[in-house]
Amino acid sequence: MTHADALTALDAADPLARFRDAFHLPEGLIYLDGNSLGPAPKAALRAVETAAREEWADGLIRSWNDADWFTLTDRLGDKVGAVIGAAPGQTVVCDTTSINIFKAVAAGLALVPERRVVVAEGGSFPTDLYILEGLRGMRPDLEIRLEGVDAPAIEDLLDARVAVLLVNQVDYRSGARRDVAALTAAAHAVGAVVVWDLCHSAGVMPVEVDAAGVDLAVGCGYKYLNGGPGAPAFVYAAARHQGSLRQPLSGWWGHAAPFAFDPAYRGDPGIRRMLCGTQPILSRRAMEAGLEIAAEADIHAVRAKSEALTRLFIERVEDRCAGFGLTLASPRDTAARGSQVAFRHPDGYPIMQALIADGVIGDFRAPDILRFGFAPLFLSFREVAEAADRLAAILKSDRWRAARFQARAAVT
Ligand SMILES: Cc1ncc(COP(=O)(O)O)c(C=O)c1O
Repeated sequence: MTHADALTALDAADPLARFRDAFHLPEGLIYLDGNSLGPAPKAALRAVETAAREEWADGLIRSWNDADWFTLTDRLGDKVGAVIGAAPGQTVVCDTTSINIFKAVAAGLALVPERRVVVAEGGSFPTDLYILEGLRGMRPDLEIRLEGVDAPAIEDLLDARVAVLLVNQVDYRSGARRDVAALTAAAHAVGAVVVWDLCHSAGVMPVEVDAAGVDLAVGCGYKYLNGGPGAPAFVYAAARHQGSLRQPLSGWWGHAAPFAFDPAYRGDPGIRRMLCGTQPILSRRAMEAGLEIAAEADIHAVRAKSEALTRLFIERVEDRCAGFGLTLASPRDTAARGSQVAFRHPDGYPIMQALIADGVIGDFRAPDILRFGFAPLFLSFREVAEAADRLAAILKSDRWRAARFQARAAVT
């Protein structure tokens, strides 16, 4: 069997192939950036149009009740919950991930008021660290311990003084994946609360927050959940904590009875307590369409295909691009990897720009990482192999050295 026949056979046997048609994908483009911005579900485009014309333009203020706008945040939350292994009533779709990190870490700290240490990853997505800095500005006694700075492994930073562990399931650069259940158990063993950042895992692998005993979690709506640019994020709080959760952005949407207009704050007894204020509705309608696709797909089949796609890409790049200075920056062990693959190259930026100009979209993460995301709901094995071949062609031809590929854009 030739390589091409093998790829055709893999695509023909792919149980997820039918989902591709649910997305609008520009003809001829190979999109390896669904880990940064998922493509548009066709149903999302229709849903936004309907929501704008019928619910907003015609329905006006009545739509808060008639179109159930007010409860959309919990209903979508339950759909996200189904994807991350949370029973209903523990997840809401709201705000941005950064804001939800603030609320979740602050709520976590309030659960363990006698402690003042937060542990995080020095190599975390920077917003997580910036938010911790912001919290320390409000609470100068807070001590922040970082993996990679204060100790090599995050587990070594856990002791009886730690209040909150803030940690990513999948590293945004390398794609290294952590064991949610094991690390949650390690944090609980020292009496700490865990906040998981699921931005790079929700929708592309099983998370099982309930089964793992996770306390709080946050994540993006615009990556593997395909909710659209700047889609609302989500926050999960385990039911066992909800009655006593105190989060500092205690706006009126988190009140037990917002339309009582009570001057005193009384938090909702459930997950709505994590809300702050009025939420954008049109972007929720787009996200709903993305979540409906996610609800239909078997997350174990998604993970199995994701593993196969990343494996194929690594093998093919290492074979076809050998000798051109690329080094794998992702774990070689498939089980230790998320759904993305990173290669280092000192000229990573212009190489990625040249690849994008050739119709393969990945992205670049400073200082030297070419990052490729593998979203199993729309990618084929043939495309992934083709992407590696085009990368090889660019390296062999030196096309990336052209001046137009050198200038850095604002978003990389
Ligand atoms: C791991 C991680 N956490 C947090 C964020 C920040 O999300 P937002 O910009 O929605 O606040 C991102 C964004 O890409 C991310 O990758």
